[in-house]
Amino acid sequence: MKNPKILGHRGASGYAPENTMEAFRLAIQQHADGFEIDIHITKDGEIVVIHDDTIDRTSNGTGVVTELTLAELKQFNYNVGFEEQFPTAEIPTLSQVLELVKAHDLYLNIEIKDIMTNTGKYDGLNIAAANLVKEFGLVDQVIFSSFNHHSMAELKQACPEIKTALLHFSKLYKGEEYARSAYADALHPLFSIVDKSTVEQAHQAGVQMNAWTVNQPADIEAMIVAGVDAIITDYPDTAYRLRESKQA
Ligand code: G3P
Ligand code: MG
Repeated sequence: MKNPKILGHRGASGYAPENTMEAFRLAIQQHADGFEIDIHITKDGEIVVIHDDTIDRTSNGTGVVTELTLAELKQFNYNVGFEEQFPTAEIPTLSQVLELVKAHDLYLNIEIKDIMTNTGKYDGLNIAAANLVKEFGLVDQVIFSSFNHHSMAELKQACPEIKTALLHFSKLYKGEEYARSAYADALHPLFSIVDKSTVEQAHQAGVQMNAWTVNQPADIEAMIVAGVDAIITDYPDTAYRLRESKQA
């Protein structure tokens, strides 16, 4: 049986504030092989790690990420939902996360939230983030993903050594051919559309398959049996326990 990587979705976000250093450090403690993060760009051109395009849901502040500077964003507390266990949590920069990934020799999935391309504010975020990954010497440990498949194809053409993945919710017709047409290294499907034959077809075409967001033990087991390359989960401890027990 294959041994899928376990990636903490926004860190160990089932137990700690999502997309914060606290959640990433906890994922490491829970034996994750790495994590999935989401990135946006600030008003002053810094790359920050946060899921939404505003800070309203996850912090004690309000505002649009692209309309705030990094210094302004850093003033707020991003511990919503975990106030007692984590009295404070900052918004990290991509550089902070890359430092942690390098220090612990981890794997990282950087999801670029460049879906709203009509503003023009996200233009070039893909290449800028890839250049940072290259500066850190982490090309082999990072895979980029996006629901914006144009962005992934553009990134691959500009930086062929960078690994890219296509995020999708519903089943694709000949997904492995589609992935190859966009020069992608992997498909990142919603876990509920993944089965063994889909994974096998992808693998035969040289395309990896990493499933998200797999939280229930039965679903984690199903993904292990299906042979996915990585399981993206809010609960790395559960996935680790199940993966290790399947190997025993
Ligand atoms: O990258 C997998 C997953 O994170 C995609 O959806 O909304 O959780 O970023 P979302
Ligand atoms: Mg994500």
